[in-house]
Amino acid sequence: MSDTRDRQFLEITRRQVLEAGTLVSVSGLLPVTAKAQVSSPQLTPENGTTIQVSFQINGQPRAIEIDARASLLDMLRERLGLVGAKKGCDHGQCGACTVHIDGRRVASCLTLAAKVDGRDVTTIEGIGSADALHPMQQAFIDHDALQCGYCTPGQIMAAIACVKEGLASTPDQIREYMSGNICRCGAYVGIVAAIEQAAPQIERG
Ligand code: FES
Ligand code: FES
Repeated sequence: MSDTRDRQFLEITRRQVLEAGTLVSVSGLLPVTAKAQVSSPQLTPENGTTIQVSFQINGQPRAIEIDARASLLDMLRERLGLVGAKKGCDHGQCGACTVHIDGRRVASCLTLAAKVDGRDVTTIEGIGSADALHPMQQAFIDHDALQCGYCTPGQIMAAIACVKEGLASTPDQIREYMSGNICRCGAYVGIVAAIEQAAPQIERG
């Protein structure tokens, strides 16, 4: 295509876009950051988008005011100082941020903090103590089921839920239902062995 035809093509394209005159057409051509501004210009804390959330966290009642857009993971780590749950991918793909809401496992990076209002949240900090480890924590130690440990809080929270869900009866079942929790160190053999050891000591939900 010649320079002249290139210019004509670009001019026609711009004209067509402007004539179309719809937000959808324009937003489809904008960079992601600009699109976000178009789709949610009102979502700034200055514009009154903070909300009050009341919930139980590791058995203790809490009430805080948070940005309505905040994820549960960010609220736990940055507002409550509970840094056990880790931010791995922040996209629901690695499981490092796994916590329990009302006893069920969730990826806290994909869960709005606002959703826990009136709910019961449990993190790795709430399942045992230095003097009395949870059976799953002890089993991870016994089986050397970690190397760097970054994924471990999420693995343990997912493993407890997996057992309570009745989905840890065989090594294959454990591998399948723990597949949402990635371990970059490849400690999977130890993780499966740890879950097998702890399962009989954990009540099903
Ligand atoms: Fe939440 Fe990866 S940080 S799934
Ligand atoms: Fe390092 Fe799992 S122990 S990522």
